[in-house]
Amino acid sequence: MSSQPKPQILLTRQEIEAVVTRLAAEIRQDYQGKCPLLIGILKGSFMFMADLIRLLEFPLEVEFIRLSSYGRGKESSGKIKVVQGLRSQVRGRDVLVIEDIVDTGLTISFLLDYLRKKRPASLKLCALTDKPSRRQIPVTIDYLGFTVPDKFLVGYGLDWDEKFRNLPDICVIE
Ligand code: IMP
Ligand code: MG
Repeated sequence: MSSQPKPQILLTRQEIEAVVTRLAAEIRQDYQGKCPLLIGILKGSFMFMADLIRLLEFPLEVEFIRLSSYGRGKESSGKIKVVQGLRSQVRGRDVLVIEDIVDTGLTISFLLDYLRKKRPASLKLCALTDKPSRRQIPVTIDYLGFTVPDKFLVGYGLDWDEKFRNLPDICVIE
């Protein structure tokens, strides 16, 4: 295997757990008595989704959508398309999008526009991390975990060239 960059811990698993617990409490308050459709963006959100929904003690449904935007490196190609779509009806549903990181905002803006056209009853965004220094399109994040510096992050679902998703902490690679 070729030489790999060494990840340095930025957010520990304990810090992540505390923030996921806080986000779950905020979401529980707002969605009590509803049956929202949580839509995770693959692949980065899978671990966050799994931890978050275990703390949401009310009826909900889970969907995943796969978008392509990034190539194999660290930079977005800027062109986004749906690679694997939704099976659930979005029309009339309370939709909560679950994202790992909002960077330039291009991916999430595309997805929110795509979903809005399907006429959900409500549409909100929950993002574990936000890198506002790189934003190209304004994005409203209804439930935000961490604001992070302009570094490339891996772990807890986030990858670099498909590697490091399995790290339990969120780490920086140079
Ligand atoms: P955006 O379109 O630039 O906002 O990019 C959003 C997507 O790019 C996220 O869903 C991630 O999958 C990926 N991404 C952005 N920044 C990072 C990072 O630091 N590490 C890993 N993936 C990232
Ligand atoms: Mg992603």
